[in-house]
Amino acid sequence: MVGHRIAVIPGDGIGTEVIEQGMRVLKHLDQANDLSLTFEVFDLGADRYLRDGTTLPDDVLERFKKEFDAIYLGALGDPRVPSNVHAKDILLGSRFKLDLYINFRPVRLLDERYCPLKDKKPQDVDFVVFRENTEGLYTGIGGQFKRDTPDEVALETEMNTRKGVERIIRAAFEYANRRPQGHNSLCMSDKANAMRHGHDLWQRVFKEVGREYPNVPQFHLYVDVLCMEMVRAPERFDVIVTNNLFGDIVTDLGAQIQGGIGLAGSGNIHPGKVSLFEPVHGSAPDIAGKGIANPLASILTAGMMLETLGYPELEAQVRGAVAGALHENRVTRELGGTLSTREATDAVLEQL
Ligand code: NAD
Ligand code: IPM
Ligand code: MN
Repeated sequence: MVGHRIAVIPGDGIGTEVIEQGMRVLKHLDQANDLSLTFEVFDLGADRYLRDGTTLPDDVLERFKKEFDAIYLGALGDPRVPSNVHAKDILLGSRFKLDLYINFRPVRLLDERYCPLKDKKPQDVDFVVFRENTEGLYTGIGGQFKRDTPDEVALETEMNTRKGVERIIRAAFEYANRRPQGHNSLCMSDKANAMRHGHDLWQRVFKEVGREYPNVPQFHLYVDVLCMEMVRAPERFDVIVTNNLFGDIVTDLGAQIQGGIGLAGSGNIHPGKVSLFEPVHGSAPDIAGKGIANPLASILTAGMMLETLGYPELEAQVRGAVAGALHENRVTRELGGTLSTREATDAVLEQL
């Protein structure tokens, strides 16, 4: 038995509520399949920051690299920390410092009744977004000048490196290439018509790397048209690759067409290194503490983590169980059900 060590960061708000439920599913699968999972919970988030100023200590980061096979995270963000500094340090800090360059975000409709688009079926909404996760507009490069004066200037610099652009595009091509023929196209999305330096680099690298993948149908859409097409004809897409900010935005759009933000999971991945898995949603301060958050995104995320740990069949089982609970309408309120966070998890556990 190999065994897998998982670092758990419940974080803030509903993060703590949904991770508790995801852990119930993981523990069930662990027992049923002899996975030898071990968990260590890390007290990182707004409470800790407000208590002693800690965000993401270097020694914890070192431990993530050396001692763990995966990180399972809830959400970070708390109205008591308006600067969001702890969330930036912990979430963006992990993505950057662990060099998790692939933000892997599937958009999969599991039950057509939850799709807001007319006449779309599960086979129509089934694609994956590869969001660049270590550069773009997220590096914090920039500055403020003459702050709080009428002449104030604020600069936010988008960083696109050849290495960074190439590795995310290549990862998307590799993934598309492994998908079945007819479902293996790759769409690159940027805004090269307005952003002439950075996105010109994306254009050139996409064409260059694309020549190595003659079997992958490849096309480009500007990001505004991508948004339009995701709503009009989501069946056009198999794999999408885009930069950090656009990927953030289009995956919330994607979350809605797959049934809602409570159903979207994600992996922050660097193949061969410790990777971090989290639902796409945030800490939802508006519903935190009420026991009504949808746990399905973090349950699907747990499945994705198991897939990366070498158990694709368990990911399929988890997804099937979530689909089963959806088919029976055993869901939380925002999906029209009546169940609590815990009861919605019970429904999935019964399916499993
Ligand atoms: P959010 O995703 O937390 O909430 C948006 C809306 O979706 C809210 O109405 C919320 O109630 C609802 N919602 C989200 N998850 C849900 C769930 N599981 N079940 C039912 N309803 C759900 O986005 P926001 O309000 O913009 O952000 C709140 C805080 O979370 C902010 O501090 C933000 O920075 C942070 N955030 C963190 C992450 C992360 O840790 N990965 C992701 C997004 C936002
Ligand atoms: C996400 C979140 C984060 C992001 C925020 C909290 C910084 O929205 O994971 O989608 O923009 O990446
Ligand atoms: Mn987001």
